[in-house]
Amino acid sequence: MSRLTVTPETAPGAPVLRTEEPEIIAKTLAEVGVRFERWSLPVDVSPEADADTLLAAYRPHLDRLMGEAGAGTADVIKMRPGNAAYPAMRQKFIDEHIHTEDEIRFFVSRSGNFILHMNGHVYDAHCTAGDLISVPAGIKHWFDAGAEPNATVLRVFTDTTGWTPHYTGDTISALFPAA
Ligand SMILES: [Fe+2]
Repeated sequence: MSRLTVTPETAPGAPVLRTEEPEIIAKTLAEVGVRFERWSLPVDVSPEADADTLLAAYRPHLDRLMGEAGAGTADVIKMRPGNAAYPAMRQKFIDEHIHTEDEIRFFVSRSGNFILHMNGHVYDAHCTAGDLISVPAGIKHWFDAGAEPNATVLRVFTDTTGWTPHYTGDTISALFPAA
């Protein structure tokens, strides 16, 4: 189940909000400029399908989204247990960073945490299958899907160079592991 935990940046472990209500998650994140939607989609495709099949199945929904976001294309990333490349990938995004473009992700299966740092608070969005999240360019954040991930995620983008993480040098992510 999707979950949002909001904690003052000065009080790790002492959240002021913890909710699994999608409407409250969306409203709370919208108040700080972050788009969150739960899509209930008439898409019947296995998360194990190949990237082309997955993208074709979600294309009508992505087109709708892309029209609004001005994005150009999308791809599929599968995080699976035992993937030898995963530890390095995990490490790349687990420290606080920003991007030069919006980070738009749709969870086809399983889960991961986008953890956002703004307004003196840490917003930990535990995203699950059916969740769309768009982290605006320039928002400080980190991402973790755990040591043994098993997620299929669509990535929507305008320019892949925008994916490059620009690290802030802040070590706060160590104080706020994925909730
Ligand atoms: Fe990121």
